[in-house]
Amino acid sequence: MKIGIDNIGFYTSNLFLDMAKLAKKRNEDPNKYLIGIGQEKMAVIPKTQDIVTLGANAASQIVTDDLMDEIDLVIVGTESGMDNSKSAAAYIANLLGLKNSIRTFEIKQACYGATAGLQMAKDYIQIHPDKKALVIGADIAKYGLKTKGEPTQGGGAVAMLVSANPKLLAFDGDSTYYAEDVMDFWRPLGYSEAKVDGKFSTNVYLDFLSHVYADYQDTYGAKLTDFASFAFHLPYTKQGLKAIKFLIQNEPEEVQASYLNKFEASRKYNKIVGNLYTGSLYLSLLSLLENADFLKENDKIGLYSYGSGAQGEFFAMKLVEGFQSVLTGKTKNLLAKREEISVEEYEKIYQSTLNYRDNEVFDVTEDHARYVLAKIDDTKRIYIKQF
Ligand code: CAA
Repeated sequence: MKIGIDNIGFYTSNLFLDMAKLAKKRNEDPNKYLIGIGQEKMAVIPKTQDIVTLGANAASQIVTDDLMDEIDLVIVGTESGMDNSKSAAAYIANLLGLKNSIRTFEIKQACYGATAGLQMAKDYIQIHPDKKALVIGADIAKYGLKTKGEPTQGGGAVAMLVSANPKLLAFDGDSTYYAEDVMDFWRPLGYSEAKVDGKFSTNVYLDFLSHVYADYQDTYGAKLTDFASFAFHLPYTKQGLKAIKFLIQNEPEEVQASYLNKFEASRKYNKIVGNLYTGSLYLSLLSLLENADFLKENDKIGLYSYGSGAQGEFFAMKLVEGFQSVLTGKTKNLLAKREEISVEEYEKIYQSTLNYRDNEVFDVTEDHARYVLAKIDDTKRIYIKQF
């Protein structure tokens, strides 16, 4: 029986910042951000969106009425949760109107959370093939104004429906994984901004890739050309460029050129959204699927998931027959309709999201998302559905 991703939805806010303009304000050469970091635009998440609304808005792209009775597992992977106890999944299942005979919970392991959820959902469907699981990766990446990490911020959510006989991608065998207790990136309780050992984190990411990819090759006898293309966790897209260069380093020149060219499709969306932590790998996958003209049925895609702290995993998925019918172009439209804001406006939004006051009421008139955060009522977050 095939198990995999039946459908995939994405959401980010309608606001973005131009990276060249941010670079100028920070007295950096724009090409450092555009080429050196590999980011052109950055999603800016207003106060009326948090990981619950981002996740619900992404899920609402794929959760149709006929699925209401079939989904009985909702897993949210996040590292920017807004409650130390209650899971974002509990809110999201309710906002979507899912049934109550359901399991809802949240997973944390930095940017790896959504992959952990996806793999758990795969195992669950293996023994409950008549059920469906909703796996969401939702995050707002924050390092602080004027920090080195600032150009690698962003935010958004990816939602995936996991089922038997999927319409998009089927898991192809098992994963290889590697974990070590590493201090490359962390966010202590009470902090809204991440702490990071930047250069070190970029090296750990590649070191873990080398472990899981070598293990994958040894275990499954796989070679590079078995994969039509790859999708990587993209904290910023230059990191993915380093990852693909690592994988192709021993290949002939024309093979290297071909994979470098294919990589461009997998970073197109991430370049204009920024980091969404848990969702980044799956936005890269969506970017590849919607922008590559070379993919066909039965092609194998290699996926590398990395979560600081640290966890790495490599696995493969195969495109199923008729996969093109699932790709609706909604993401392209969503990203094309966003509004640019100035560096000053971005800084204002940034400062406003550092603290949420009890009994604060938000102006939702400028936020046209389906789900928005309307107020904080005695520390309780109150969400509304606008349409
Ligand atoms: N034109 C073209 N390229 C230029 C340039 C110019 N004018 N000026 C600089 N560059 C290049 C540099 O040569 C460098 O390239 P390489 O990485 O290939 O060496 C690149 O731009 C970045 O320049 P710096 O190294 O000087 O950048 P920095 O010191 O300002 O920091 C960073 C970069 C470490 C990524 C920092 O942004 C950061 O800490 N980001 C957050 C951490 C992060 O994303 N880590 C990734 C791995 S961890 C992970 O994956 C989990 C997660 O999601 C966080």
